[in-house]
Amino acid sequence: MDWENVFASRAMRMKASEIRELLKLLEKPEIISFAGGIPDKALFPKQAVSDAYAEVLASEQGDAALQYSVSEGYKPLRDWIVGEMAKIGIPCSAANVFITSGSQQVLDYLGKLFLSPNDTALVTWPTYMGALGAFNAYEPAYDKLLPMSNRPVASYVEAAEKAGGRVKFAYAVAEFHNPTGETMSRGEREWLLDLAEQLDIPVIEDAAYQALRYDGEAVPPILALDIARHGGDIEKTRTFYCGSFSKTLAPGLRVGWVVANEEVVRKLVLIKQAADLHSSTINQMVIGKVAETVFDAQVKKIKAVYSHRRTRMLEALEKFMPAGVEWTKPEGGMFVWVTLPQWMDGATLLAHALETVNVAFVPGKAFHADGSGTNTIRLSFSCASDEMIDQGIERLGALIASEIAARVAA
Ligand SMILES: Cc1ncc(COP(=O)(O)O)c(C=O)c1O
Repeated sequence: MDWENVFASRAMRMKASEIRELLKLLEKPEIISFAGGIPDKALFPKQAVSDAYAEVLASEQGDAALQYSVSEGYKPLRDWIVGEMAKIGIPCSAANVFITSGSQQVLDYLGKLFLSPNDTALVTWPTYMGALGAFNAYEPAYDKLLPMSNRPVASYVEAAEKAGGRVKFAYAVAEFHNPTGETMSRGEREWLLDLAEQLDIPVIEDAAYQALRYDGEAVPPILALDIARHGGDIEKTRTFYCGSFSKTLAPGLRVGWVVANEEVVRKLVLIKQAADLHSSTINQMVIGKVAETVFDAQVKKIKAVYSHRRTRMLEALEKFMPAGVEWTKPEGGMFVWVTLPQWMDGATLLAHALETVNVAFVPGKAFHADGSGTNTIRLSFSCASDEMIDQGIERLGALIASEIAARVAA
C-alpha cells in the first residue's frame, strides 16, 4: 500500500524528528538526561490520587464517574478553577472555563478553530515544539513574534498575504517558557496585546508552568491585563488562558483547561463534542478532589525541589561552561536555554555527547518554526539529582570546551 498516496495534505507535515531517533538512546541507563521536560515522578501525589479514586467510586457519584458527561467539563472542578483564576487577577465564571484532555488539546482545538491552510500563526522564536506540532496539522505559515520589536503592523499583514492567508493568532508561553525558561515582562505582555488589538487577532497564552515560580515578582497573566483593558469584563477580551494540571499534579491524568470569553468557549465545546465528547469524567472528579485537598501543599513541595535543582544547574553551568557559552536564568519552570558559539550545531553536539560523555539534552532547532537556532540547546533540570546535575554539566562543559579548542586549532 502506498500510504503517501492517500494521506491528506495535512499529514505531510507530521514527521518524526531525527532528534527523537537520537533520544531513543536515552534508554541506556548510564545516560544522564536533561532532555525530557517532564515532572519528576517521585513527586506525584500518589496517595491523594489513590484515595480520591476510591472515594469518588464509593460515593453517590460513583456511577456518574464512569458515565458520559458534559463537554464543558465537571462543574465542581470548573468552580475550583474559577477560584484559582481569581487569585491571579482573572475574574471569570464557570461559563468561561472549559476542561480539556491536557492543555495540549486546547492547542489542537485552537488550531482547528482559527487556522485555514496558509493562514499565519505568530509564534516566538523559539517556541514550544508541541504547539508547532499541534498547529502544523492545520497547515499554517509561521511568522516571528519578537516582543518589543517595532516592526510595523502592516508588515505582518503583508507577510501573511504573501503566504496565502491572514494572521489568525499570536501564541506565547509567557511564563517560564518551554524551551527558554524566560518570562515575558509586563511591558512585553502589554506590547503583545497592543499588537493583537491592531491586527484584531486572538492571543493564546500558554500558562502550563504558571504555578512554578521559584523567585522574582509575579507578572499579571496576559488575560488579566486584557480584562483590565476592558473594565473587568472577560466577555470583551481576546485572550485564551491555557492552564494545566500536568506540571503541578500529574500529567497522566490528562486534565487541562482554558479560560476565555463565553462566546468562543461555546465554539470550543462544539469542537470537543465532535472530537472526543468530553475529557475523562472520573479523572476530572479525581483532579477536583486532589486539587481541593492537597493542591497548595503539593505545589509548595514541588517548587522547593525544582527550585533547588534550578539553582544547582545554574551554579554548575557557571562553574563548568567555557567562555563563549551563554544561558538563561529562569525564575521558575523546568528549563535552561543554552546558546553555544554561533558555529556549533546542537544536534551534532548531542550525537557527540551521547557517544562520548553519556549526556542528553534537546537541540534547539526543533523549537524553531523555520529550523533555525542550530546553535542552541535546552536543558531540563526537573528530574535531575544534584549528582546528575554536577556530573552531567561538568562532562558537557568539558565536551563543549574540547570542541571549541579543536576548532581553534584547526
Ligand atoms: C508550554 C507547554 N504547553 C503545553 C504543554 C502540554 O501539557 P499538557 O497537555 O500535559 O497539559 C506542555 C507540555 O510539556 C508545555 O511545555
